[in-house]
This record gives sequence, structure tokens and C-alpha cells, in this order.
Amino acid sequence: MTIGQPGRGEPSTPDDSVPGTTAHPDGRGPTVFGADLAGNGAGGGRVAVGGRVRPVEVAELPLLVDLDTRLFGEFAYPYFVLRQLFDLHPADLLVLDDGGRLRGYCLGVAGSVPGLGWILGLGVEPTARGLGHGERLARATFARLARAGVSRVRLTVNPYNDSAVKLYRKLGFTFLTHEEDYLGPGAHRRLLEARLPGLDGNRPGSDHE
Ligand SMILES: CC(C)(COP(=O)(O)OP(=O)(O)OC[C@H]1O[C@@H](n2cnc3c(N)ncnc32)[C@H](O)[C@@H]1OP(=O)(O)O)[C@@H](O)C(=O)NCCC(=O)NCCS
Repeated sequence: MTIGQPGRGEPSTPDDSVPGTTAHPDGRGPTVFGADLAGNGAGGGRVAVGGRVRPVEVAELPLLVDLDTRLFGEFAYPYFVLRQLFDLHPADLLVLDDGGRLRGYCLGVAGSVPGLGWILGLGVEPTARGLGHGERLARATFARLARAGVSRVRLTVNPYNDSAVKLYRKLGFTFLTHEEDYLGPGAHRRLLEARLPGLDGNRPGSDHE
């Protein structure tokens, strides 16, 4: 939570725009994660996507629910949860806006343990993957968290979610523990942590705002 953030009226800056026109050099496809079957559902071809990272607007929450459901299936946040998260953390629900279409999002909040933040959601729609947007959304979130006094960030990941595990490793996350049934029966998760100043690349100010 970024206490005292101006909320959804906060202007987005144009300097976040990226060309985003090249696919990942190794041509890898999206990774199936949990019920994330959408990686195969959009025709398989990547689209060029630019866009900017900005806080979501309340009117966009239904679109975000759609996106989250495509990304996470049974583990998606229902509307009412997203609505309440939005009320708690209005400026911390960052979306990738590609000409009015939401292509990805990241939610990172500061918790009640001083200095400790959590990534509660990160995803990019399948046709926009491999273009750096997941990393960009994550780094924008870290920048916000750092400004809110967060020095350590935790998250959980499906151990078989290769693309996410590699992204988090690239960002400097290390293994803390493995918890069976973390998200319910059979939904085991790895708990990872990174120190914000030590995030690989240390570019907290390079994205959004
Ligand atoms: C994980 C996810 C957010 C990555 O988004 P993305 O925009 O494709 O990732 P980026 O293009 O920013 O890639 C950044 C880094 O992540 C890693 N990575 C991303 N996709 C990868 C893949 N398919 N295979 C291997 N590594 C991958 C690489 O380290 C990459 O850096 P590199 O390009 O220098 O090699 C995306 O795959 C996704 O939305 N997955 C479904 C939802 C999900 O699993 N979210 C995470 C929940 S914990």
C-alpha cells in the first residue's frame, strides 16, 4: 500500500511508452500456469504492443477481472475482491494500457510489517508476452513500493511456472520456503523474496511516474 497516494486521478506520464514491437528473441511461447490456459487461446501469434503503465481506473475493474480470469482461472480475484483491493490501494493496481486495452497488470502493496511489501498479482496477456512488459510492470511496482518505504518484497509462485520463476530470478528474488497447499489443496507455492535496493538492474525510477 502506498499510503497517501493520490489515487486514480493521478495522471499517467507519457514517458513510460515503449516501442514494444519485437517478440522475445528466442520465440518462446507463454507458459501455462495453473489454470492459465489462455496462453494457447489467442491464436498463438504475438501482437506488437506498446502502451504505458499507469494506475487502473475504477471503471476499468470489470476489464481487469476479465484479464485476471484469463490469466489465472480459478485463482483470479473476483470483482468484489478487486474492488476492495482498489479501495485499499487505489494507486497500486498498475495496468499496461495499450491504446485503451488492458494487456497486463501488477498489484504490489506494503503490508503491516514495516518495510515488507508483497506482489499479489502480476500477469501479461499471452499475445503481449516476451516483450518485456512483465518485467516493466514489476519494476514499476517496485519503484512505487520503494517510495513507500518498502525494502523487501515477497511473492509466491507456482514452482512449475517457468516463465515467472525466471522473471523473478532475473529481478533478484531468492527462495525462502515452499508451502504445500498454500492456495488450497494441491496448490503448492514457493515463497520468494527480494531486497529492493538489490533488485537486479536497480532501475526503480525507470518506469511509471
Ligand atoms: C510471467 C509473465 C508475467 C512474464 O511476462 P512477460 O511480459 O512475458 O515477461 P518479459 O517479457 O518481461 O520477460 C522478462 C524476463 O522473464 C523471463 N521470462 C519471461 N517469459 C519467459 C519464458 N516464456 N521462458 C523463460 N523465461 C521467461 C526472462 O528472464 C525474461 O527476461 P529476458 O527477456 O531478458 O530473457 C507472463 O508469462 C504471464 O503473465 N504469465 C501468466 C501469469 C503468471 O504466471 N503470472 C505470475 C504469477 S506468480
